[in-house]
Amino acid sequence: MATGIPSSSVSEKTILASLKSKQPYSLPKGNAVTIHYPNKNLEAKILLPITNNFVKIENNHFFPIKFFQENDLIFSDNIFALHQLINQRANFDLIYLDPPYNTGYDFNSKSNGHSYSDNFDLSEYIEFMRIRLILLRELLSDKGSIYIHIGHQMLHYIKVIMDEVFGTKNFRNLIVRKKCSSKNYTKNQYPNLNDYILFYSKGNDFIWNPQGTKPTEEWIKKEYPKVDEKGQFKLVPIHAPGERNGETGKKWRGMLPPKGKHWQYTPSKLDELDKNGEIHWSKTGNPRRKVYLTDDKLIPLTDYWENFRDAYHQSIKTTGYPTEKNLSMLEAIVRSSSDSDSLILDPFCGSGTTLNAALNEGRKCIGIDQSLSAIEHTLQRLNNKLRLIVDEDVFNLFSLEILSILR
Ligand SMILES: C[S@@+](CC[C@H](N)C(=O)[O-])C[C@H]1O[C@@H](n2cnc3c(N)ncnc32)[C@H](O)[C@@H]1O
Repeated sequence: MATGIPSSSVSEKTILASLKSKQPYSLPKGNAVTIHYPNKNLEAKILLPITNNFVKIENNHFFPIKFFQENDLIFSDNIFALHQLINQRANFDLIYLDPPYNTGYDFNSKSNGHSYSDNFDLSEYIEFMRIRLILLRELLSDKGSIYIHIGHQMLHYIKVIMDEVFGTKNFRNLIVRKKCSSKNYTKNQYPNLNDYILFYSKGNDFIWNPQGTKPTEEWIKKEYPKVDEKGQFKLVPIHAPGERNGETGKKWRGMLPPKGKHWQYTPSKLDELDKNGEIHWSKTGNPRRKVYLTDDKLIPLTDYWENFRDAYHQSIKTTGYPTEKNLSMLEAIVRSSSDSDSLILDPFCGSGTTLNAALNEGRKCIGIDQSLSAIEHTLQRLNNKLRLIVDEDVFNLFSLEILSILR
């Protein structure tokens, strides 16, 4: 078809170059992106040491302590406990936090009333979180990971703050977790079923133990439909996208790779696979590789978690704490991102789900919460497994209440 455009003189590059020169605005390049609001604290100020006194409680008496130790449950605003952990050079391989989501609600426990308020001004919330995330970064080991559980309300702000504090290159996943089944009625918006977990590592060399589930018979039949004397197998192409000039772009058994593709193996390796009976030839002469099912085959846990709904939304036994998370989910996180000698931190531990998961998986842990109700639920759940530490000022104000939950 005649277009009137002399095809030889107009290349894609020429078009792009001429469009670029017409752009009315310049685009900044190579800058770190940060979020701005008034009274944002300087990082250097946030990292200045803060000291605070803590006491341990034993047999109805309290004793000052100098250092936290593994399996401590700390009743305090986490800011003071985190500074103390930094002062004593603590190091965690895994930090999981499930902070307030800024929902605008007050949360009450099933059994003992008010648990915590979740109502911040927007910039107040962002800075509250940023301060704590900066302190948490200081506590994360070089092979460590941090997971933040968050609702849709603040997800996008927290993602930007995480990029700022931990670096975009350390972002690993945004996990979508189905938290409940679809019975939430909403009048003029879509019902909300999911919350989110942002997963970042401290660097490139982080602890990673892939998790998965054993395949069902039904899945195996669908994915590995063929059988021969070596076992069940599936067929996969032996070519991949992209043309190559080397060995993998050459003819094999008189055939070139399909247009725009290359062989996944050199012709000599393909000969070897064929000799071992690992190439399947179709009736029309199309070669494909046999991939056999192995005993250790797992279906990998992806970034969509639909099988970790909160017990609160099902009729499974719970502690009664209003925002208690799914224990199996925390166990999966602990297995994925820590080793048996790892120390794990939850600075907003609520009813102690992370601590429970860590102890179940044979790890050591530290939990922090500023709510008496949270401390009570955690102690009920993990009776005798944790040492209770209290901010001295909190103890002086609430000693009777604190001692009463220990009875
Ligand atoms: C969403 S809940 C955590 C629930 C927990 N993941 C569980 O499974 O039970 C958030 C917790 O953060 C605590 N919290 C809020 N602000 C805090 C602060 N500054 N320091 C320590 N804990 C805080 C609240 O008391 C509440 O228990």
